[in-house]
Amino acid sequence: MNQDPAKFSLSNFLAQETSDPLEPPPRFTHWMRQATFAVELYEPELLAGADARTTIDYNGRPRSVINLCSYNYLGLANHPEVIAAAQAALKTHGLGACGSPMLSGMTDLHRELERQVAKFLGREDAMLFNSGFGGALGTISGLLRKNDVAILDNRSHLSLRDGAALSRCRADKFEHNDAASLDKALARKQGRRQLVVMEGIYSMDGDFGDLPALLDIAESHGASVFVDEAHSMLACGTNGRGAAEKFDVEDRIPLVYGTFSKAFGALGGFVAGPKETLRYLRFYAHPYVYSCALPPVVVAAILKALEIGMREPELRKKLWENADYFHAQLRNIGVDTGRSTTYIMPLVIGDRERMYRLGHELRRRGLWVAPVDYPAVPENKICFRACVTAKHTRADLDEALNILDDTLKADSKIKETTFRLRCKMSELAVRMTS
Ligand SMILES: Cc1ncc(COP(=O)(O)O)c(C=O)c1O
Repeated sequence: MNQDPAKFSLSNFLAQETSDPLEPPPRFTHWMRQATFAVELYEPELLAGADARTTIDYNGRPRSVINLCSYNYLGLANHPEVIAAAQAALKTHGLGACGSPMLSGMTDLHRELERQVAKFLGREDAMLFNSGFGGALGTISGLLRKNDVAILDNRSHLSLRDGAALSRCRADKFEHNDAASLDKALARKQGRRQLVVMEGIYSMDGDFGDLPALLDIAESHGASVFVDEAHSMLACGTNGRGAAEKFDVEDRIPLVYGTFSKAFGALGGFVAGPKETLRYLRFYAHPYVYSCALPPVVVAAILKALEIGMREPELRKKLWENADYFHAQLRNIGVDTGRSTTYIMPLVIGDRERMYRLGHELRRRGLWVAPVDYPAVPENKICFRACVTAKHTRADLDEALNILDDTLKADSKIKETTFRLRCKMSELAVRMTS
């Protein structure tokens, strides 16, 4: 396969090409070798914490970068009080939980975090998962059954789609944030138990879920609702209770889900809601029953992060000021941020080859953004994803914008020169043959 590697994507290698499932498709291995330039931008090695400025390994050397890659929205991953809380728990509780919460991994710290999360969100109870992905997947698959219907926004995170697949329920989609499309989808499967699945903030597009409009439709059909607040929890709403608080719809959402890996700066997930529902779910969510509980060190750190997130609303204010500023400046330099209205911003490039070339150039110049390729986004929306945080200073953001502007302009010039050269050469060729 000596074809242009830029013409291929991960969606091309799902066929069973080998007789042994442990052997990857040879075409994939070949493509990976050909596409080293692109692959090098993935699984980057951080040589320090996920702070606003950090150091990564680039081409085998430490490179200082402005970090627009990490989800450390409130800067809590590196907060001295959070680190101190983790250190204290390490002394009292050791490193790991060493068991599933159901049998041996539950500690007093886990119970305290359950209570604090429930109290923070005004819910009866909360349960913890050792990963956000497992929490979303476990909740959906733990509650839905074969004859149920999950109706997911078509931009839903894979953890939600995998949860529906694992439950073996019928999964249907509605157009992103489109109330009319949801209405149609719900009408198609009337008479069954239906769960509408949406997100507070969409992780690739950086736009809010249109919760009020979608809730109206779900309620009109008597359908239940599940909202994934992975990217919005603690970072949105006056008190940090997510998109539901921002849109004033908390009392219309019985079950809240969030992760600790974004604004909390840690790891894990939770679901909060009625005690009876959670008592049932604790026995049927496989990632809860059959997987080790969060390390107590992490739980202690999350408790402290939650305390700071509640105590210091100014962190959220700073995050949103930074997001608004960055959006405005990106518009000034002509960068397309799609439908983003939040601190998550796609920087749409729309061309795979150009995106990887620019990705290297940006890292070389000291700006770290994440490459996002098809099938994570449509081919014409291939982009970088940039996340601003409360910890970025105005100087960090201005420097990032300068690097971006210079790099994009320089790349356009190269493209223009190449285009002109190509035109000249074909003109010459025409003249020589005529
Ligand atoms: C919307 C959404 N849900 C769930 C998850 C999974 O969370 P975690 O990374 O904490 O496992 C993510 C991760 O990015 C996400 O974006």
